[in-house]
Amino acid sequence: MTDTHDCNDCPLSSRRDFVRDAAAAVAAAFLTLGAGPRGLSARTLGVTAARLVRGDERTYPLPAEDGASIDRDAEVILVRYQGKVYAFALSCPHQHTALHWEPDKARFQCPKHHSKYQPDGVYVSGRATRSMDRHALRRDAASVVVDLGRLYREDRDADAWKGAFVTV
Ligand code: FES
Repeated sequence: MTDTHDCNDCPLSSRRDFVRDAAAAVAAAFLTLGAGPRGLSARTLGVTAARLVRGDERTYPLPAEDGASIDRDAEVILVRYQGKVYAFALSCPHQHTALHWEPDKARFQCPKHHSKYQPDGVYVSGRATRSMDRHALRRDAASVVVDLGRLYREDRDADAWKGAFVTV
């Protein structure tokens, strides 16, 4: 069966534009999020922006409690979940569609082929063949510094991917 929404052949610039547009929808979904069963709550989900930009690095306040927020400009989803902070690429690792958050199930889901991921980005099911891609990040006092130039794929660099979080 042919998938009419397949954008494998889309030029990269078109995909980036699409991801940017879709980010607004993701952010809107975050703002309407109800309390989830795993501690992600409506109070902490929303839009964020880096307070410091230096090269590929974006510095954000360390999230004070479990939740998720999106930086549209950087195409990053910042998540605090069960004592760890992660920085995910906004796009689905399958075909780069912007991921959505499902508040009632406390998980990320791709709107294109419905791949599902836990709040820590771990793959659950669907066409994707790996977990959500994670950016390298480090803690700096009360901030978290995300390196947009280093994006780890679970299937290519499993050790770096597993270690791409900071504890809080
Ligand atoms: S683009 Fe296919 S599962 Fe996300």
